[in-house]
Amino acid sequence: MNVLGLETSCDETAAAVVKDGKHVLSNVVASSLQEHAQHGGIIPEIASRRQLEFIIAVAEKALIKAKVKLKDIDAVAVTSQPGLIGSLLVGISFARGLSFAIQKPLVSVNHIEAHAYANFLEAPGAAANKKSGRQKPKLPAIALVVSGGHTNLYHVKAFDQFRLLGQTLDDAAGEAFDKVAKILDLGYPGGPAIDGLAKNGKNTNVRFKSTVLPDTYNFSFSGVKTAVLYHCRDHKLQKEFSPAKTAYSFQDSVVLALTQKSISACRKFNIETLLIGGGVAANSALRAKLNEASSQHNIHAHFPPLSLCTDNAAMIAGLGFHLINERRITCLI
Ligand code: KG4
Ligand code: ZN
Repeated sequence: MNVLGLETSCDETAAAVVKDGKHVLSNVVASSLQEHAQHGGIIPEIASRRQLEFIIAVAEKALIKAKVKLKDIDAVAVTSQPGLIGSLLVGISFARGLSFAIQKPLVSVNHIEAHAYANFLEAPGAAANKKSGRQKPKLPAIALVVSGGHTNLYHVKAFDQFRLLGQTLDDAAGEAFDKVAKILDLGYPGGPAIDGLAKNGKNTNVRFKSTVLPDTYNFSFSGVKTAVLYHCRDHKLQKEFSPAKTAYSFQDSVVLALTQKSISACRKFNIETLLIGGGVAANSALRAKLNEASSQHNIHAHFPPLSLCTDNAAMIAGLGFHLINERRITCLI
């Protein structure tokens, strides 16, 4: 079964063809990120206008790259929430029109849940992964989705049963990375820049603490972001001030909070599988820390390949396949 996935929730316009919920035949992403970079954040009006301009070409390219024609598409899956309303509307309207034209089912997919699903996709190079003994993820699982807009922890019993255990009460993890990068003049988006810079900042006495919200699976990152702001304000002109050490300590504190809550949820619910997804899942320190902590507790931590961590439509098509099959949904929108 070939599902055409469409993702337009923010600044990426993405289309992908995925076979049987796991084989990624194509995965095309266009982005207006560079235009937003000069403003230091996403401008919704610009994002939705670019979605309109890109969507047809991106969908056509996904079909060509997958070497399929429209008649080979068995269903259309589209991100329905959450996201910028103008951007979402472009994808949803396009998907509705397309599904009507080709008379194939349309299914709506939650973007955050799809980030966790990305772990079940077999991306190009999957054959090599198999040889290296990388285990396939299994349900039930705990899923940590960390992106620019969300930090959510789920208990996942089935692909249509995501139970939210906790979430950020203020800034999302990626948002905190982006804001700290702004304070350090590293540009937008800040996650990759902090990840790179922090590698030169180990061995520091500078410490920032993330707010711990005991007895909950909620997170809070605005305090650590403000601590970085004050640290920079008070020390920026001093000779020993180091942006790399500041980046390292900030990252370390966020990574620790994410790791502790994820592992504690796995242990509490006696679950062996931890799925990580979203743009911040690309972070090298988070990958290292979660891998280390998981192996200490016999938990298998799974990260999608880097190309499937950030926004893409393959994850939408993949989860859409299961929603159609398991719940026999023909049209949700
Ligand atoms: O999932 P995503 O592409 O879009 C949203 O749904 O938000 O995530 C984008 C976020 C941005 O905040 C970006 O700074 C962050 O993911 N990010 C990273 C890294 N790569 C991207 N954060 C930390 N380390 C990275 N290597
Ligand atoms: Zn996302």
